[in-house]
Amino acid sequence: MRIDKFFSEIGKFSRKECAEKLKKGFITVNGEIVKKGEFKVDIEKDVVCYNGEVVKYKKYVYILVNKPTGVVSATEDGRDKTVVDLLPPEMKKLNLFPCGRLDKDTVGLVILTNDGVSAHNALSPKHHVEKRYYFEVADEFTDSDKLAIENGLQLADGYTTKPCKIERLNDKSGHITLTEGKYHEIKRLFGARRNKITFLERVSFSKILLGDLPRGEWRYLTEEEEKIFTNA
Ligand code: URA
Repeated sequence: MRIDKFFSEIGKFSRKECAEKLKKGFITVNGEIVKKGEFKVDIEKDVVCYNGEVVKYKKYVYILVNKPTGVVSATEDGRDKTVVDLLPPEMKKLNLFPCGRLDKDTVGLVILTNDGVSAHNALSPKHHVEKRYYFEVADEFTDSDKLAIENGLQLADGYTTKPCKIERLNDKSGHITLTEGKYHEIKRLFGARRNKITFLERVSFSKILLGDLPRGEWRYLTEEEEKIFTNA
């Protein structure tokens, strides 16, 4: 595979950026500086380094974005900005898609990948992946609201939700951890108790944490996080 293709396929540099890095002598293959984009690398055997650090070829890309409000969890939308639009334009060709959806007015952690099998597994209700959210509600919620939601309750469409966990921060905010992801689930759970979600932020997906990544920004998953995601 061409060295510039190698870097663009793993989403590290566009071909143009790669040409600049090559020119500056930042890229080596098996210890030798490589200057030409057409230089062929064997992805199984060759050791490719950028700036002295080994860069491994990866078939799939895993990214975490901190979705702002007003952005939709889709790959394309005629009207609204999408989570994929938060990435640099050259990453478009990686065909990344969001693993699961947050509502347009929900903020926080969304994982983007082009690994369809792992995304499918991570979303499968059989795998019970925990998704944790910070929430604020309009009216005070009582211990009986907390218990009713935690035990699972019947929504207006007849669906009975799976048990979940709520940790109260105060009368109007807390954390809720779900292992399923039904449409507007948290809003409907509080709606069923005559309350209203006024702010919702996903703060973790399994053991992958949003942390202090600023709103609207993105980062690659670490190797550890990739393992968590692909084994979910
Ligand atoms: N539950 C909701 O109601 N909305 C979300 O975006 C996620 C979970």
